[in-house]
Amino acid sequence: MTQSLLFLVLGATGGTGKHFVTQCLRDGHRVRALVRTPSKLPSEAADKIEVVQGSITDNVDTDALVKGVDYVVAMLGDKETQQTRKVCLEFVQKLVPSMRENGVKRFLFQAGGLSRPYGGSLTPLLWFLRYTLAYAGGFHGQHLDNEAVMEYLSTQAMDIEWIVHRAGIGSDGPSKGKLARSPSTFSIGTHVDCATYSFDLVQDASAVHTSDFSHYV
Ligand SMILES: NC(=O)c1ccc[n+]([C@@H]2O[C@H](COP(=O)([O-])OP(=O)(O)OC[C@H]3O[C@@H](n4cnc5c(N)ncnc54)[C@H](OP(=O)(O)O)[C@@H]3O)[C@@H](O)[C@H]2O)c1
Repeated sequence: MTQSLLFLVLGATGGTGKHFVTQCLRDGHRVRALVRTPSKLPSEAADKIEVVQGSITDNVDTDALVKGVDYVVAMLGDKETQQTRKVCLEFVQKLVPSMRENGVKRFLFQAGGLSRPYGGSLTPLLWFLRYTLAYAGGFHGQHLDNEAVMEYLSTQAMDIEWIVHRAGIGSDGPSKGKLARSPSTFSIGTHVDCATYSFDLVQDASAVHTSDFSHYV
């Protein structure tokens, strides 16, 4: 029988996060989730998980949040707030010291494929999409916030087993197949496929300290 693990999920009511929670429960694991609006949780999950009501912008007790956790997973996004404030960076800067303090090692942060990895680059096509489609969609601040998190993890948190998934997501439609990790090939996936991929990725020691794309195999 698989060991029951405890996942802390940040963004559990979001496009990827809701599928991630379902996947954890389906595999017999436990979930703790920090959510602003518990009623937005998938109904089949709401009474099976430990819900902490609050916002990452609140003065959250991050020690209590990570206590006893095996894996921390962040699938956060608030493009309006992120236009003027790096809320993910601010929160991760509080979360990581609490992870250290409580002996929690592994952290998966889901960013976007159009976010540049720290010390890396984007192809001209991805820069073009970033400054046309993504910019027009109001995602510029979200990419800057995601990039600031990647810089923080790379420069100040190498003792943590962090993994960044630079996801490409086009819809909340049905599965289109299985995603695999790639430093160079990028697919436009669905939320459910990205959740399944991130679920496997966070448990994959070979992915530690990578900030790769995912693509359909
Ligand atoms: N969607 C895409 O097309 C796409 C594509 C590629 C990559 N990504 C990346 O994937 C990540 C997650 O995106 P997603 O589309 O799965 O998420 P999403 O649908 O935008 O949902 C974001 C989640 O973050 C939560 N959240 C936002 N602000 C919060 C706060 N202050 N406190 C607590 N929770 C907060 C939201 O809670 P509420 O329900 O309360 O709002 C929601 O659960 C992002 O980094 C994004 O850049 C997304």
